[in-house]
Amino acid sequence: MSEQLLEKIERLKEQRKAVILAHNYQPCEIQDLADFCGDSLELSIKAAETDAEVIVFCGVRFMAETAAILSPEKTILLPDKFAGCPLADMITAEQLRQLKQQHPGAPVVCYVNSSAEVKAESDYCCTSANAVDVVKSLPTDKEIIFVPDQHLGRFVEERTGRKLLLWPGYCHVHVVITEEDIKNAKAQYPDAIVMAHPECTKPVKELSDAILSTGQMLHYVKNSKAKQFIVATETGMIHPLKKQNPTVKFIAASEQAICPNMKKITLEKILWSLEDMQGSRKAGSASRVAVPEQIRIKARKALDRMVQIFPAWQGCSRKAGSQ
Ligand code: 13P
Ligand code: SF4
Repeated sequence: MSEQLLEKIERLKEQRKAVILAHNYQPCEIQDLADFCGDSLELSIKAAETDAEVIVFCGVRFMAETAAILSPEKTILLPDKFAGCPLADMITAEQLRQLKQQHPGAPVVCYVNSSAEVKAESDYCCTSANAVDVVKSLPTDKEIIFVPDQHLGRFVEERTGRKLLLWPGYCHVHVVITEEDIKNAKAQYPDAIVMAHPECTKPVKELSDAILSTGQMLHYVKNSKAKQFIVATETGMIHPLKKQNPTVKFIAASEQAICPNMKKITLEKILWSLEDMQGSRKAGSASRVAVPEQIRIKARKALDRMVQIFPAWQGCSRKAGSQ
């Protein structure tokens, strides 16, 4: 890795009063360069709190959009404008409006992996770290619409005992991880604890000891005495886990679980986006993310309600009986 490149980024970062935020699935060198790494909830909180004038968001579009909803006065840069989230694109605002018409009065909870327009049509937002708490807080006499991830939705149904109206969305990266992958890894590492992301399928989660957001995985391992973990999520997650726990062994449940969109961000693209602050001509692909004010105000309400219910990150949800 070019020292010169890193130095240039550091220099420009200072000049621009910028902060670099990176999701836990980002390429290793980007996580190592970032000022802060975390899961979707932690990054949203950080984006809202920072007094930096510019946020370089190393993640996918819905994450940068969330930062723009929370901090419209800041410049939000997504170093590759094509870094999207196919799960977030599985429902449009129009489809959600139609669903709401079919179920009048049903509150809508949307996973943060959704567009700003879908958030604007929703009553509550949630992340994988707090979806259970958000749904638990809602009145029990109403049906609840939950979009767009069906696997997270089913997990929430199980944990809350509530019946949700689910949308058939899914993450193409997490559904790649199979029951066989977990069984094979367990056969090879019988003492290992299995951690799965809630976006995994039900059979995978049933074979797991703990179902956690990426930030919760880090917290869980830190507080565990176990020395081996099978990790059922995007493979980028192995990097922060190893970094935080150098003496612990981490096994990716599937080497196929790679999010191509997360990997679109590169060091060069970070530099280029900081250089021209717009949508770099050099990169041809960076973008300055902004959300139209009418949509932003409505989407902000759904995010604010989430933060009111769940003011601070509160440890990990773990399966009873696991470590
Ligand atoms: P986390 O909020 O758990 O980091 O998940 C984000 C995501 O996109 C999972 O695929
Ligand atoms: Fe979207 Fe899945 Fe990638 Fe997460 S891992 S950003 S849900 S495509």
